[in-house]
Amino acid sequence: MVALKIDGIATSVPDGTTILTVAKKLGIWIPTLCHHDVLTPYGGCRLCVVEVTLDGATQIVSACTYAAADGIEVQTCTERIIGIRKFIVEMLLAEAPQAEVLQDLARDLGVTPPERFQPRNELCIACGQCIRACREIVEVSAIDFAHRGYERVAASPFFQRSEDCIACGTCVDICPTGAITKRDIPAGEKAVVADGINITGPARIIDNWKVGLALKQCEKCGEHFAPQFQLDHFSKRASLPDDFFNVCRQCRT
Ligand code: FES
Repeated sequence: MVALKIDGIATSVPDGTTILTVAKKLGIWIPTLCHHDVLTPYGGCRLCVVEVTLDGATQIVSACTYAAADGIEVQTCTERIIGIRKFIVEMLLAEAPQAEVLQDLARDLGVTPPERFQPRNELCIACGQCIRACREIVEVSAIDFAHRGYERVAASPFFQRSEDCIACGTCVDICPTGAITKRDIPAGEKAVVADGINITGPARIIDNWKVGLALKQCEKCGEHFAPQFQLDHFSKRASLPDDFFNVCRQCRT
């Protein structure tokens, strides 16, 4: 166990506990963007910065990656910290002004629409949650970061159709800004997946990764419930019987 103080509250936590976790347990709000409880901490957005003081020396660290240590004193809401968070939200807001999560944070932190940064008007803020979810939860690694610095975005390999994406939609669900879109195309309907790639439903399209996959039909209710490629992936990973996904989840229970 390690003993620390956070916003003046003394507490003890097991070794390795992050400051963010300690703060949550104590009901102290620290804003986050790239953090998700089920994913490996990444420390990319820096919105969760806090001040950590030990032996008279103070440093700024990201609460989602910094492990609590014996004797440290953490301040989560100083003027300096608020200033840094405002600056980060201002930059991100220029990048993705339509993102509701950023609009909410801007409101909470009193950030006005940015003027000093060139607007990019995109939704991806390079938090990497989709990439980590694809790798750690789905175990596929169909996407990764492309470019560097300001141009950094989540992308399929070479921005071409991802051969590995199983169109499960985990990236869509976990994205905090709604930057990734998924469409289920009804039977017989034609749709454009990307330039030169067309598909006829029943199919699922993940637009960002230029993927369109045919949907499997439930043998009982007839619903087209999931891409066959996705079902093959999960069958193999969980060593399920060949006929396990012949019916949808509702018909199996
Ligand atoms: S939430 Fe900690 S760095 Fe993004």
